[in-house]
Amino acid sequence: MLKKIFKWTGIVLGSLLGLILLFFIAVYFKTESRANKVYEVKVQQLVIPTDSASYALGAHVAAIRGCRDCHVKGGVPFFDEKNPLALLYTANLTSGKGGINYTDKDWIRALRHGIGKDGKSLWFMPVQHSSAALSNHELAALIGYLKKMEPVDAEHPKKKMKPLGRLLTFLGIFPMFPAEEVNHNATFPDEVKPEATAAYGKYLVVGCQGCHGKNYKGGPSNAPGEPPIPDLTTTGDLGKWNSDQFITALHTGKTPDGRTLSGFMPWSTIGKAHTEEELKAIYLYLHELK
Ligand code: HEC
Ligand code: HEC
Repeated sequence: MLKKIFKWTGIVLGSLLGLILLFFIAVYFKTESRANKVYEVKVQQLVIPTDSASYALGAHVAAIRGCRDCHVKGGVPFFDEKNPLALLYTANLTSGKGGINYTDKDWIRALRHGIGKDGKSLWFMPVQHSSAALSNHELAALIGYLKKMEPVDAEHPKKKMKPLGRLLTFLGIFPMFPAEEVNHNATFPDEVKPEATAAYGKYLVVGCQGCHGKNYKGGPSNAPGEPPIPDLTTTGDLGKWNSDQFITALHTGKTPDGRTLSGFMPWSTIGKAHTEEELKAIYLYLHELK
């Protein structure tokens, strides 16, 4: 009798382990094939400006869209050796050693489509929240600015996905491949007029989606030990703030109720870089959201 029970538990446990192993093999091959998918897209043409006004505009766009926060100098670890998800450095965008060495077409392909020189999706670069939907005018100015960056020598280890990163990517929880999320047939306005209107705010505020969520309703924290992500619509604290209080919060980190926002909200870089007019526009748009 006892022997029989042992035999059956053995079979059940064995099959379970087998199934788990099969599942992980499936996770591995599926994520590997998504990482290696080569995209064929029609890359739009843009004339990249070299005048100083465009350079200043490009620098401003790089600041408010977060490029500078992530691509510090020649690139920094985004997921370091100890991170359980992946090993990934933000790329060295300069022309120094280890730099990306892009043609204009490569820049446009990466920033509109999230696709690298090899035709494969970039990893985790938040293209859909930073550069994909820029007006033609601003994207061209941004590229003009990036091409003039001081060369920095910085070579990085080869990127790799780790088992937990693969699992979360497989389950659709972790946005590893931006090229899967971008609309590759979208067209873009030549210019979006800077003015204090909700329409302009809507254009600007997509950059905040990466953390505050697609509908700006916030949610749990980005990682253990970080504060939860607040709701930016009228149902959150912001519903009670006026436009000036919102501008003060984004420029100084001080909220009307006397708190100081932590560094997990990039107010001292991205927030501060916004002009008052831009923040007024964002405020107007957020105040339309119920
Ligand atoms: C949240 C962090 C983050 C932000 C914000 C961000 N990037 Fe990235 N970016 C990354 C990471 C990580 C990679 C590396 C992707 C890879 O190696 O697959 C990357 C890759 C790139 C690449 C491709 C380089 C290559 O290896 O071919 C370009 C170009 C780039 N970023 C430009 C920008 C620009 C311009 C902006 C602003 C509009 C920006 N990034 C905003 C994290 C970020
Ligand atoms: C890298 C992630 C990240 C990005 C990008 C980001 N935020 Fe935040 N934001 C946070 C976190 C985290 C908090 C909570 C900070 C705290 O409690 O200390 C926060 C808090 C705030 C608050 C305070 C809300 C409250 O109820 O206290 C405002 C306002 C805000 N963010 C606006 C923005 C806007 C506008 C943008 C885009 C320009 C933006 N954030 C981009 C992570 C982010």
